[in-house]
Amino acid sequence: MCGIVGYVGERKVEEVLIDGLKRLEYRGYDSCGLALASSEMEIYRKRAKGRIENLASAVSKNPPGLRNSGIAHTRWATHGEPNEDNAHPHSDCSGEIVVVHNGIIENFSQLKEELIAKEHVFSSQTDTEVIAHLIEEKLKEVSKSFGIKHNVLEPVFFEAFRRAVNLLKGSFALGAIWAKTPDMILSARMQSPLVIGAGENENFLSSDVSAFLKYTKKVYFVEDGEIVVLRRGGANFFDLKGKKKAKEISTINWDLSMAEKGGYRHFMLKEIHEQADSVENTMAGRLLPLEENKVFEEIGLKAELAAKISEVQIIACGTAFHAGLAGRYVFEKLGIKTSADLASEFENRAALLDKNTLVIAVSQSGETADTIHAVKMAKRNGNNVLAITNTLGSSITRESDYTFYTHCGPEIGVASTKAFLGQLTAFYMLALNLSKSKGLLKHENLSKYSQELLRLPSLIKDTLGLENKIEKLTEAFSSKEHYLFIARDISYPVALEGALKIKEISYVHAEGYAAGEMKHGPIAIIEQGMPVIAIATSSSQLDLIRGNMEEARARGAELIAVVDEESRKNVKAKHYLEVPLINELFSAAISVIPLQLFAYYIALQRKCDIDKPRNLAKSVTVR
Ligand code: G6P
Repeated sequence: MCGIVGYVGERKVEEVLIDGLKRLEYRGYDSCGLALASSEMEIYRKRAKGRIENLASAVSKNPPGLRNSGIAHTRWATHGEPNEDNAHPHSDCSGEIVVVHNGIIENFSQLKEELIAKEHVFSSQTDTEVIAHLIEEKLKEVSKSFGIKHNVLEPVFFEAFRRAVNLLKGSFALGAIWAKTPDMILSARMQSPLVIGAGENENFLSSDVSAFLKYTKKVYFVEDGEIVVLRRGGANFFDLKGKKKAKEISTINWDLSMAEKGGYRHFMLKEIHEQADSVENTMAGRLLPLEENKVFEEIGLKAELAAKISEVQIIACGTAFHAGLAGRYVFEKLGIKTSADLASEFENRAALLDKNTLVIAVSQSGETADTIHAVKMAKRNGNNVLAITNTLGSSITRESDYTFYTHCGPEIGVASTKAFLGQLTAFYMLALNLSKSKGLLKHENLSKYSQELLRLPSLIKDTLGLENKIEKLTEAFSSKEHYLFIARDISYPVALEGALKIKEISYVHAEGYAAGEMKHGPIAIIEQGMPVIAIATSSSQLDLIRGNMEEARARGAELIAVVDEESRKNVKAKHYLEVPLINELFSAAISVIPLQLFAYYIALQRKCDIDKPRNLAKSVTVR
């Protein structure tokens, strides 16, 4: 995890870096730091435990003066506790070479031993520090052959960096500067996100475009095994052997206001409110006319191949997994056998997949390490993989055969909301298209379902009208420490998601259960006043869930029911959250909204750090 930023140009380097770090804080936020290089050939380095504000105030107390370039880092600890010594940037023995790193160096213990034997002195417990010492070691080696003359300093640093990078095993996105070459930043990527922002006489590097979007929308996506040389005048790309590579520039179509809070108190609340747009954007131009199978045409999935797909296998983590589980019900209700697995538990299953199984990997960020690993396992078995992601050029898009972008705009809040709606919408469209192309869906049903799907954005807006009621309701629940969420069938993933949202941002115990399982254990934990939230919207399973709610009430549960105008007539609960009625196939996209708002307001009452919950990061790029 972690986020890195780099800048070379005429602006105040520390300001660009700190602003960039603030936008990357969602990637980790237990400590941070920056290092700047100047024409005087000395390094300014500042690090801080905790949030970016701590770093900003340390920098303002001791300003760096005029600087040429710099690198910065926000950390989510993997090796070594989150303290100042372990915060990046890390340096070599001389303090002249500094490095920021996102990822894990798997062979760091061995490298560290070798470097200690060569009398390098380490000052942190991190895997990253070995990189700085390794470059230092390689610099000695290269200097002998090049000689340290002023005009060859940049090639010497490049060669030392290249040789060091070739010895690293694991995942990394790196930024490195050397005091003696202040106009150049070196960078490299292996299985961790890295993107270069190309400005006018200035250039940027970052884990994610949001760090420099305010300055440029022109980007280069760095591939695994590439080294980047960044100077004011431009970026040059090389392979690990040092051979120059040509690279295409892309343009990002997000603007900065899409990544800012826009008047909302938290990104999470803003993103909850953006969900109608998310669904609209995911559908835009893809659904109609129904006959054209526009989705498959866009992603390049040929009709003959679609017809051969025997089964679907979904893989994902976290909220994306819950969207995938809902996707499974959608596919199966439309006649296509489907499994959904957590990407982290998929390894053994991959080799047993039938070759005609289409694997669908879901990831908002497109960078989740377990999901990418699962994709590789499926590819190794010979399966076609379709990625559903929100992030242009992300790693998953390069590992997969086909990509379906959800176009939800940047999601910053660590607890995922609008991306979930985009992913559900993607599943609705893919399932309708696949079922139709396999001849499993009659035209009149396709048209009926499509009409329902098109209603979603406006029904989502109506559902958001529950916000005030939910805010009031949470006042009575904010001190509760245990919650049960129960549901059946296609609403079951919504129960899981409701429980996950509360856990993530309120730090209370919450469990989502398939209501049929209640009598097999969970009912034993119900006691007087325990909140039980049931999804009881209109469906073929309504009578069964009503029975499960009665059982919970009889044991003292305080029932909150998510209902629609039809089901409300038959459901008994203490509190009702009434959502608009929609065909059960699409109900997850509506019934999840009150649960997101419920979790948000509980967390607000409990004064939790909603956008940056403790111990979590937005993008889990380590396994
Ligand atoms: C982290 C985030 C979750 C997200 C999950 C999967 O745990 O905090 O919000 O659902 O990763 O992320 P992905 O980017 O693969 O969808």
